[in-house]
Amino acid sequence: MENSSSYSDQKSGDSLEAGNGSGFQVHVFSSSSELLEKLHEKWNSVKKQPYPAMYSSTFGGIILDPAMMVIPIDDHMVHRGHGVFDTAIILNGYLYELDAHLDRFLRSASNARISSPFPRSVLRSILVQLSAASQCKKGTLRYWLSAGPGDFLLSPAGCPTSAFYAVVIDEDFSQCKEGVKVVTSTVPMKAPQFATMKNVNYLPNVLSQMEAEEKGAFASIWVDEEGYIAEGPNVNVAFINHDKELLLPSFDKILSGCTAKRLLELASKLVEQGRLKDVKNTNLTVEEAKGAAEMMFVGSTLPVLPIISWDEQPIGDGKVGELTMALSDLLWDDMVAGPEVQRIPVPYV
Ligand SMILES: Cc1ncc(COP(=O)(O)O)c(C=O)c1O
Repeated sequence: MENSSSYSDQKSGDSLEAGNGSGFQVHVFSSSSELLEKLHEKWNSVKKQPYPAMYSSTFGGIILDPAMMVIPIDDHMVHRGHGVFDTAIILNGYLYELDAHLDRFLRSASNARISSPFPRSVLRSILVQLSAASQCKKGTLRYWLSAGPGDFLLSPAGCPTSAFYAVVIDEDFSQCKEGVKVVTSTVPMKAPQFATMKNVNYLPNVLSQMEAEEKGAFASIWVDEEGYIAEGPNVNVAFINHDKELLLPSFDKILSGCTAKRLLELASKLVEQGRLKDVKNTNLTVEEAKGAAEMMFVGSTLPVLPIISWDEQPIGDGKVGELTMALSDLLWDDMVAGPEVQRIPVPYV
């Protein structure tokens, strides 16, 4: 792609003479149409536009032009991290578990002291209409509530109206069948007040993920100060012990995962069939967890990802667990063909 403000293009004797020292001349866009033309050039050069639609309350509508999918720099979420977010997946033209995610979204907003610019029913309607406008049949819907644009101060007092943003991301995903490796995170986990609300301050999560990738692992596991298992950087974690009990760390210090909660409900079917003995939301020590027969990540886009090794030690026999896959099948079936309370049809036009 032509880049008119590339370093080499702009290095000139003139700019040195202009006294800026570095020899780098910053381009000044003479008009918004010149800028837009450049942005269109960028987006036209990509093979497939990954974001088919965005909603912005600051614009007051749905945007289909990726060049205009922007948020204001003076938004309190951008420069102070004063925002919350959530997701939902779009699978085969249905929004899965949107209501559970929306409930958590509004709980997060309330804990972050952000009042929504719209009532819940309007937020939900915007998300459904946005999904329809996107024409996307498989992907993710991500949305944010922010204290809104205003000034650059710490207090949100200068931000008169909160903001709601949402975007649809065209993404392919399928049931995970291969097992992955994990490592214990050395990055400190967030304090419960912040870990239990899905706010945009994900720096510890990002650093923890980078650490895992550097160690050749898929992701990391957080252990809390008392030595109990917490969660992964953007997923919950679950275990099956040798007594065939499904164990998930309790949600008092971590994010209460919508997928993990649904898994707890669906797993009762395996209890009825006698394949699982019990299903528990409980605290587990590292020793108990590392000695489990099976281990898995649980989260919206997975929905279950088998874990076969932790800190280079095998989990169980080091192979993808049978009960892990039975749980994965239950969740995947629920996503593909579950009841309509869980699956909202997108009214595409
Ligand atoms: C920190 C954290 N834990 C757990 C989860 C899993 O939650 P869910 O199943 O709702 O995607 C997420 C993702 O939202 C997360 O960011």
